Amino acid sequence: MTAGGPVLGLVASAAGGVESWLRAGLAEPLARRGWRLAVTLTPTAARWLEAAGELAPLAALTDLPVRWTSRLPAEPKPHPVPDVFAFAPATVNSTAKLALGIADNQALTALGEALGRRAPLVALVQGNEDQRAHPAFDGHLATLRRCGARVLLSGGPAAVLEEVDRVTDQPAGHR
Ligand SMILES: Cc1cc2nc3c(=O)[nH]c(=O)nc-3n(C[C@H](O)[C@H](O)[C@H](O)COP(=O)(O)O)c2cc1C
Repeated sequence: MTAGGPVLGLVASAAGGVESWLRAGLAEPLARRGWRLAVTLTPTAARWLEAAGELAPLAALTDLPVRWTSRLPAEPKPHPVPDVFAFAPATVNSTAKLALGIADNQALTALGEALGRRAPLVALVQGNEDQRAHPAFDGHLATLRRCGARVLLSGGPAAVLEEVDRVTDQPAGHR
């Protein structure tokens, strides 16, 4: 963690495997690269990570709270505005909601605003064949890409790391 350093918004939704690779495959390498992590989970992803005992070790990687609920109006914002976002894994459900501007949880609230201000955003969309065959799926990806998001459909967390390095123009180990 780097208090005061560049902030990466790491947003994860409930796609299979998130509980096994989010921390070790993505959050730890990002933290090692010097990113201060602002982690936000969908409510379902939070439930999965909690059941897997992953919430505490994830929280230990950052000085910022891991979020999955909204703040009360009188509370200060728990996260600064991130410089860049990694949305991984992105379920087909949360991808569709993001493309449509639906912000019915904290993860989508953060992502929707990021998309609106055209912040650098890398999304690893993970879905099975039937989910990807939904008639609206390609349109949702096109919407995200039109807003400058880098949309990955394969490659796992390693591809996300590579793409984050690319969009932030910083090779690994130089942050
Ligand atoms: C074991 C399991 C694995 C799943 N894997 C995926 C997946 O890889 N991609 C996906 O889009 N949905 C997957 N789902 C379905 C999502 O969890 C479901 O659509 C959920 O409502 C997504 O919520 P979220 O987008 O708010 O995280 C899976 C569900 C289960 C139970």
